[in-house]
Amino acid sequence: ADVDLQAVHDTLVSVAFEAGRMILAANPSSISTKMNAVDIVTETDQAVERMVSVRLRAAHPTFLFVGEETYQAGVTKVTDAPTFIVDPIDGTTNFVHSFPNACISLGLAVGRAPTVGVVYNPFQDLLFTAIKGQGSYMQRNASLAEGAGRGERTRLPLGGANPRPLGNLSSALVSIEWGSQRDGPNFAIKTRTFERLAATKENGGAMVGGLRSLGSAALNLCACAAGQLDLYWEGGCYAWDVAAGWCILAEAGGRMASGNPGAWETELDSRVYLAVRGAGSGQEALVEEFWGVIGDGRME
Ligand code: IPD
Repeated sequence: ADVDLQAVHDTLVSVAFEAGRMILAANPSSISTKMNAVDIVTETDQAVERMVSVRLRAAHPTFLFVGEETYQAGVTKVTDAPTFIVDPIDGTTNFVHSFPNACISLGLAVGRAPTVGVVYNPFQDLLFTAIKGQGSYMQRNASLAEGAGRGERTRLPLGGANPRPLGNLSSALVSIEWGSQRDGPNFAIKTRTFERLAATKENGGAMVGGLRSLGSAALNLCACAAGQLDLYWEGGCYAWDVAAGWCILAEAGGRMASGNPGAWETELDSRVYLAVRGAGSGQEALVEEFWGVIGDGRME
């Protein structure tokens, strides 16, 4: 049966605002670790995911649900069926430190393709949304009532339908994250990527215009969608980190150029993501320059 994507979008926005209220009211004190000491989860992550799964199952009982805090390696799969893919708090480390760059990331995949995306940063009351085929939007003061200061829905990318062309890496603003997987080959690939982006050309690098690590995969993708970042690279993301932001990026003319041929469509545990913003021209050339400089950045 056809999925009513607008209804899904509206449900996700309403759930995102409820999650935002929980996140703002929470005191991020009870912290547990998962894979290692920097892979953390709080009671708020778990409480938000419970709320989200209850509300989404009630609204769309036939859809599947994948969430970061209930994911089981080797058991949880993304299939062709409509599937909600949820990160209750993307940027948990920021949340714990009250660094205001964290969000709830709510995606719907249909036929494994990112089809609806809602990313909401409650600290800035900033909302990003997209429905496949219908463009991406950003809204400030999004949770306020109409007439009480709620911003317009602004189509992405910011600045209009003809985003400025991309230059080469030396003028690019690039986001790159360490993430929590820093063992063995993962660490070597990340270190090499950071090093080659930063190094001068004489030292085999790209000497990029600027490097940022802001701590939320979903918000990095939204910043690319908005045109505020040129590129975002990370190894070690999971589907819930990227599902919603991927839809928002693609609907804003950006592109996910993954270095992992397995990609998210087939494997939940896809490792490497390279996102590039929408541009009048230069997208392909910049991606080629990136892979040329860092080589094949596949993760284990
Ligand atoms: C993490 C954040 C971080 C990224 C990690 C993610 P979480 O998500 O997006 O920026 O570097 O790879 O796991 O754990 O805060 O939901």
